[in-house]
Amino acid sequence: MLDPALDRLIRDLPKVELHLHIEGTLEPEMVFQLAARHGVALPYPSVEALRAAYDFTDLQSFLDIYYAGCDVLRDEDDFHAMTMAYFRRAHADRVVHAEIFFDPQTHTARGVAMATVIGGIRRAMADAERELGVTSRLILCFLRHLSEADAEATLDAALPFKDQLAGVGLDSGERGNPPGKFARVFARARAAGLRPVAHAGEEGPAAYIHEALDVLRVVRIDHGVRCDEDDALVERLAVDRVPLTVCPLSNVKLRVYPRMEDHNLARLLARGVCVTVNSDDPAYFGGYMVDNYRAVCAALPIGRPQLVQLAHNAVEASWLPAARKAELDAQILAVAAA
Ligand code: ADE
Ligand code: ZN
Repeated sequence: MLDPALDRLIRDLPKVELHLHIEGTLEPEMVFQLAARHGVALPYPSVEALRAAYDFTDLQSFLDIYYAGCDVLRDEDDFHAMTMAYFRRAHADRVVHAEIFFDPQTHTARGVAMATVIGGIRRAMADAERELGVTSRLILCFLRHLSEADAEATLDAALPFKDQLAGVGLDSGERGNPPGKFARVFARARAAGLRPVAHAGEEGPAAYIHEALDVLRVVRIDHGVRCDEDDALVERLAVDRVPLTVCPLSNVKLRVYPRMEDHNLARLLARGVCVTVNSDDPAYFGGYMVDNYRAVCAALPIGRPQLVQLAHNAVEASWLPAARKAELDAQILAVAAA
């Protein structure tokens, strides 16, 4: 059982979420609701049967179900409903700011327009800020199992909306799809003023983290946990304060680590790496932000000072203006002192 004082600290800390796939927040209940609305037949008889299928052996086994689930997202209201449900749930966990990914290729390939996807998500972002006080940014992810030409076409379709986007990312199946495959499209995105991030070192090797930094010039690494296979890389990440957006429950669900006790989050934190805690695809991995903080706290040498450092790291790693960062850091210190 978690120490009640630590549990309270976890609840009360203002949190910043930096690694969240909005399509990964689609809960089975909403999948069924949207399927009914659009007359889509699902290959599962019930919400419980769908949830029971969330038993993954690796990243690809998850991605197959995750992309299939997206088929119920048809119109702008669907994207709005999914995103708004995430913000309400995150707000209950005291998430005050979120930088969220979306996978447009999953939708445009089914004939859903870029404007529909971005329109629904952005409307929810505005509603969440007004109704809940939760601020956010939007990051367009390219699917790395597809070609660079496909990513280029996606960037072309997104550029008319570039004022509504903060950055570009790279996700989907990592093995055999190195960051360098997307060198040109990332260069073009950077030139358009979009901040680059990439998933690297989740299932792929430490070399992919170097490549994401050197070739794609990313400002954060998503996951990055396999950096510990290369000591010089860990040193580089620590010295340069390159943030890693780590997703503990995801890593155990997708068997990057057999048990939470084996996770390297606490070791990386102790080495001075700017690690942060995030929920990745919470509808699929059994937990939102508080659940992730609780899980690492229960399994790893993470106490009060480490929790406070993790909260500060997420503020530092965010793309918020300096004044807002200072405000959040002060709030974290006030909660820690209470
Ligand atoms: N897409 C959604 N979640 C992902 C993850 N954890 N890794 C790669 N691609 C993803
Ligand atoms: Zn991810």
